[in-house]
Amino acid sequence: MRILFATTEFEGLVKVGGLADFAAGLGHALARAGEQLRVLLPYFGSVQGAGEAPVIAELPGGGCLRELRPRPRGLRIWLVDQPHWRARAGNPYTAPDGRGWPDDGPAFSAFSRLAAQLAGDRLGLGWRADVVHANDWPTALVPVWLMLERVPVASVFTIHNLAYQGLFPASSGAGFGLPPWLFHPEALEYWGQWSFLKGGLVFADRLTTVSPSYAAEIRTPAFGEGLDGVLRARGPDLEGIVNGIEEDAWNPARDPALPAHFSAARPAGRTQCVRSLRAELGLTVADDVPLAAFVGRVQPQKGIAELLAALPQLLELPLAVAVLGSGDATLEAGLRAAAARYPGRCSVTLRYDDGLGRRLCAGSDLLLMPSRFEPCGLTQLYAMRYGCIPVAHAVGGLRDTITDATPAALGDGSATGVLYGSGTAAGLVGAVRRALSLRADPERWQRLQQAGMRGHHGWGPGAAAYQRIYDTAREKGTVPFFI
Ligand code: ADP
Ligand code: GLC
Repeated sequence: MRILFATTEFEGLVKVGGLADFAAGLGHALARAGEQLRVLLPYFGSVQGAGEAPVIAELPGGGCLRELRPRPRGLRIWLVDQPHWRARAGNPYTAPDGRGWPDDGPAFSAFSRLAAQLAGDRLGLGWRADVVHANDWPTALVPVWLMLERVPVASVFTIHNLAYQGLFPASSGAGFGLPPWLFHPEALEYWGQWSFLKGGLVFADRLTTVSPSYAAEIRTPAFGEGLDGVLRARGPDLEGIVNGIEEDAWNPARDPALPAHFSAARPAGRTQCVRSLRAELGLTVADDVPLAAFVGRVQPQKGIAELLAALPQLLELPLAVAVLGSGDATLEAGLRAAAARYPGRCSVTLRYDDGLGRRLCAGSDLLLMPSRFEPCGLTQLYAMRYGCIPVAHAVGGLRDTITDATPAALGDGSATGVLYGSGTAAGLVGAVRRALSLRADPERWQRLQQAGMRGHHGWGPGAAAYQRIYDTAREKGTVPFFI
C-alpha cells in the first residue's frame, strides 16, 4: 500500500513530544512490513541534520520539496522547504513570545493542501497515495483538502492530543483558502471559531487515537474538550490503538547514553547507573533514600501543579525527586523555586535532554506520571524497560500499558507499576507511599522490575492494526460530503 504520512515531528529530525517517536516508530514498522511510505514534514529551521537534501519538485506556492538523503533506515522523507518554515527556529509550535506562530493558520492549511495534492500526484512526481495518514491539528485539514481538491484518496486521522485544536477567529477563514460554507457547526465551526482539529474529526474516513481508554474517555464531556459529541457521532469509525516503542533504540543493554549496561537477565549494571545519576544531579541524600523522576513536557496536562503541591510531603517520606522537562513559564518557575528550597533532594533540569531522560529511566526507582489526562504516554514504557517503576494516574494510555500492583497481579507476576484513581496531590502521595511499601520487600520489587523489563511493547501489533485501519478506510471510500 502507498501511504503518505503527514506529520510535524519525526524522531532524529524534530521533536517536541511523543508524536516524533510515534512517526518514526510506526513509519519504520510499516516500511518493515512492506508498505510504501512517504513521510511529509515541514522543513522547520529546527530540523536537525537534513542539510541541503536534493530538490525533487518546485512547489506551486513557492519553495521546493526535498527528499532527505541518506534515507534514514531506508525511509523516504519529503521536506517542504519554504522560508516561513525555515523561520521557525526553536519550538515548531511556539513563537519566542510563548504563543503560537502568527502564520499558523495559513501555513498549516497550505501544508495540508499540499499533502492532498501530493497524495493525488498533482505535482507529477509519479507517485500516488492509496491512503493519507494525518496527525493532530496541524495536519487535520488534509481530509478537508482531499475533498476540496477532489482527490479520491482515503484518509486516516490520528488524535494524539485533543487539547490542541488549532482554533482561529471567524474572520481569518479567507487566509486559509477555505470556502466560507465550511464555517458551519457540522463542519469546521466551533463556538464561533474555525477549528482545524474538527476538520480532521468530521472529514477523515477513519479516526484513531493512541489508546483504547483515551478513545473511550474523549467520547465523554469530562475528556472531550467540547468535541465529545462529534466523536460520539463518528461511532465505530474511531478506534484506540496503543502506541509501541522502538525496542532497539530503547535498550538498556546497549544504550550509549548510560554509564553501564544491564538487562533483565543481567541486572547488575543498573546499580552503577543509580550511583552515577545521583552524582550527575548533585543529590546529597543517603544512598538508601529512593529517587523518583519526572520526564516530560512541563504543561498542565502532565500534572506538574499536582506534583508541586505533593512535593513537601513526598520529600518527607523520605524521597529524592528529579524533574527533567521544559514548557510553561509559570510551572517552570514553580519547579525552579522547589529546587532552590530543597537543595540536594530536589533536582530540576529545565531543558530537553535525551541522554539525561534515558539516565533518569536507568537510575531512578520510580517514574511519576500524575497526568490529568494522557492519550498514550511513552515515558512509562521507556521507564519499565529500564527497570524504573511507574507511579501513574489511571487515565488513558497509562491504564492500558501499566498493570497495577494489586495482590492478584503481584501473585501472578503481571504487575508492572502503581496506578491511582484520584488525580490530586493526595492521590499521588498515597500512590508513592504504596510503591515504597512494595519496595520495602526487595524480592517483590525485583519481580516488578523484571516484569516491566521483560514486557514487550514493540510496534509490531500497532503497525498491523494501522494496516487494517488503512484497509477499512479504503473500503469505506471517500465520502463526497457537501460537494
Ligand atoms: P507527550 O507526547 O505528551 O509529550 P509522551 O510520553 O508520549 O508525551 O512522549 C514524550 C517524549 O518526549 C518521550 O520520548 C520523552 O522521553 C520525551 N521528552 C519530553 N520532554 C523531554 C525532555 N525535557 N528531555 C528529554 N526527553 C523528553
Ligand atoms: C501526545 C500525547 C501522548 C502520546 C503522544 C504520541 O503528545 O500527549 O500521550 O503518547 O502524543 O501519540
